Amino acid sequence: MEATTCRSVIGSPEQAGDAAEHTTPRGEYGQYLSRNPAELDDVVARVELDGPDTFLAAARRAKRAQREWSRVPAPVRGRVVAGFGRLVESNKQALAGLVTREIGKPYTEALGEVQEIIDTCDYFVGEGRRLYGQTVPSEMPDKQLFTFRAPVGVAAVVTAGNFPVAVPSWYLAPALVCGNAVVWKPAEYAAATARALAELAWRAGVPEGVLNLVYAEGQPTYEGLRAALEDGAVDKVGFTGSSDVGRDIGELCGRYLQTPCLELGGKNPMVVAPDAELDLAVEGALFSGWGTGGQRCTSLGNLIVHRDVHDEFVSRLDAALREATIGNPTQEVLYGPMLDRKFADGFERFLEAIEPHHRVLGSEATGRITDSNPRKGFRGDHSTGLYYHPVLVDGLRTEDVLFQRETFGPMVGVTTFDTLEEAIELGNMPGYGLSAAVYTTDPGTAFRFREGITAGMVSANNSTSGAEAHLPFGGNGKSGNGSRLSGMWVIDQFTRWQSLNWDFSGKLQKAQMDVGAVEPQFDYRLPTELRGHR
Ligand code: UN1
Repeated sequence: MEATTCRSVIGSPEQAGDAAEHTTPRGEYGQYLSRNPAELDDVVARVELDGPDTFLAAARRAKRAQREWSRVPAPVRGRVVAGFGRLVESNKQALAGLVTREIGKPYTEALGEVQEIIDTCDYFVGEGRRLYGQTVPSEMPDKQLFTFRAPVGVAAVVTAGNFPVAVPSWYLAPALVCGNAVVWKPAEYAAATARALAELAWRAGVPEGVLNLVYAEGQPTYEGLRAALEDGAVDKVGFTGSSDVGRDIGELCGRYLQTPCLELGGKNPMVVAPDAELDLAVEGALFSGWGTGGQRCTSLGNLIVHRDVHDEFVSRLDAALREATIGNPTQEVLYGPMLDRKFADGFERFLEAIEPHHRVLGSEATGRITDSNPRKGFRGDHSTGLYYHPVLVDGLRTEDVLFQRETFGPMVGVTTFDTLEEAIELGNMPGYGLSAAVYTTDPGTAFRFREGITAGMVSANNSTSGAEAHLPFGGNGKSGNGSRLSGMWVIDQFTRWQSLNWDFSGKLQKAQMDVGAVEPQFDYRLPTELRGHR
């Protein structure tokens, strides 16, 4: 298949390259080859990388376009989001196929990911006809109070490539319907997929300059973001990625008195209670631990299993994992390759953190699947891609790196507990707080777990991943700063409340001072005949 060339787009695709808009010569920051991780010889995109100046130019262009866009009535903006959703639907297979080709996500999952965009657009079409404000009573006569939602302005959105289209849509759809303009910096290893999604948005009628696409690596993006914040050209930052980068972005935004929307990593625990339906828990663990190769921010990190069921559960999970099919993502597999070389390298470093006290299960070997390190039942040709054995590490101790850190690969650890309090403490201990699950048949255990666990998203008898598109998505601690994407909750990220107080009394009425008084008789006590006792 052919490679596409991906370039930043400032303004509209037709305008891209306009010298007046684009001050950095293209290619100054090099070219990145986005490769199919299942077939490394297949170059999906040649990405022309830009630098901070381009990012700044894109933000300034967005700023200019935003004023007019905010004046388009919200229901009309909603129609643009509706068109975007319909266009994505009509291109569902093509887009999912590109996701599979560029990042190696199994095709069935890729279809699910594209469905998540459609669901997101469906939700926000309606928001164009809501974006409710309130009418509020005043403390004075002939005066009325109101609240309005105002767009924030320009949103700079920086996304990871593990959900290269669904997660961006969580930002784009609400940002646009709320009247903001966007500068989107996608992951370079998902460049073609990003271009395809942006293309569908432009074709849906997003006006010139309202959605700008910038291809850049991390450091130039950071510099560009700093310049744009300094310039006053960015009013909101949305970031999905690692906790470390999230911390830097949070710090940078703080200097400009902005609160970014941060969706970061997770070390998502799954507690298996002694009364759990073990087969159900095994199925949930398999999907959330190794599905997507463990490369979701919601992927299972630590299994916390009650001592009484530990041996049985681990042996069933080990068996299921050995049976699982790994391989070519265009076929029916549990998971395909790592997203990109840098994720394969990162995962290999975590494999080195396996210690002598660990019991390693799940496959006949660990590490990259090769001729000399094969995997039984592998589907397709392992030699063409970045495929790794699944790993189940039993016997984790709380001081282990593998217990504490997000490994972002096909690896899950197991530790045991005796009491629910201990399980909750173990779940919270790594300090993330994105997603958590409990398997139990006792509602009391599920609700106590919900109350004690600090995760933003909790599942009972379901996996840690697979959140629905209209619930608040986000985390606490190292997983985020408390911001939430999706549903009605994300509207608070992309609008600011503005109040209006309107006095039609014809005189200056001073709040707190010119207010009618009430004088209660605080020393009053009920008389004997109205008392229930003597
Ligand atoms: C992510 O990995 O950043 O809940 C998003 C899930 C998906 C989204 C994951 N709906 O697993």
